[in-house]
Amino acid sequence: MTWRVILDVDTGVDDAMAILMAVAHPEIEVLGITCVEGNTSVDNVVANTLAVLDAAGAPDIPVAAGARRPLIEPSRPSHVHGSDGMGDLGLPRSARSADPRHAIDLLHDLLMQSDAPVTIIALAPQTNLALLLRQHPEVADRIERILFMGGSASGGNATPVAEFNVWHDPEAAAIALDAGVPAFMYGLDVFNQVTIDEADADALRDGPTASGRLAGALLHFQMADDPVNSSYGGHIGDAGAVCALVDPGALHVERLPVRVELAGHSRGQTVVDRRQRAGEDTVHGDGPAAAHPIDVALDVDVPRFARLFLDTIARLP
Ligand code: BDR
Ligand code: CA
Repeated sequence: MTWRVILDVDTGVDDAMAILMAVAHPEIEVLGITCVEGNTSVDNVVANTLAVLDAAGAPDIPVAAGARRPLIEPSRPSHVHGSDGMGDLGLPRSARSADPRHAIDLLHDLLMQSDAPVTIIALAPQTNLALLLRQHPEVADRIERILFMGGSASGGNATPVAEFNVWHDPEAAAIALDAGVPAFMYGLDVFNQVTIDEADADALRDGPTASGRLAGALLHFQMADDPVNSSYGGHIGDAGAVCALVDPGALHVERLPVRVELAGHSRGQTVVDRRQRAGEDTVHGDGPAAAHPIDVALDVDVPRFARLFLDTIARLP
């Protein structure tokens, strides 16, 4: 089968690997890529995304700039992607141009023009998606699913309890979750697990293809940046969400109520209700009513996703 996909990105070292993976996979048709401020400024995100498409030898996929800051918070770029958001690898600037439409308009046009449902793979703060769903609620029926990297059923990374993409724009994540569109959460519980062996990252970095060399350099950047596990290979990060689309059987998934915490010290946390039986809040009132059952990936067959990533990347020039 072929998955029709729009990627929403903040490229982003690991977003770059996700783009490589998506354009390489024979069962994925990338209709467009929308960019949002997150890891770095939206201008950097657009430039990085176009440069990655060049390295991949990808066809002329439309890339559009979107929201320049979260709905409420100021911009808070990530400190783990280098000053340009792409590990300061010095990639040549692309001669491709961004699509003149705003990301919201590109999303709207692609969704309304498609004669089959489209999967949105959201790898960034969900500001673009929230604006889209508020401005054009009619697109909800056109979306097969929002498969998002974000959140966590355990701990956080931006704060002790909040994952970066959701923490960056919690209101946006809550709006997307509330829109009545099926959702699949590829959160930190699985995101952090999928690593590539150092020998495989070396082989990519020193290999014959431009895209392989890029993937190898990105993996080595991740590896060097990891203060805890610097002896192992880098992780594929957002690319795991693309793996989740084409090989969901490698994941342990449960349908669970999830809501986004919007206040206090746990702002940006995804509260995932894993209780086996009803609690006091259910008995007495309004708890789970505020949470939406979505598919949550809780565990992953790491070698299977690592192999899928490497085999898919190997198809690129
Ligand atoms: C997420 O935050 C970003 O830094 C990564 O690109 C990923 O999408 C992980 O928390
Ligand atoms: Ca990202």
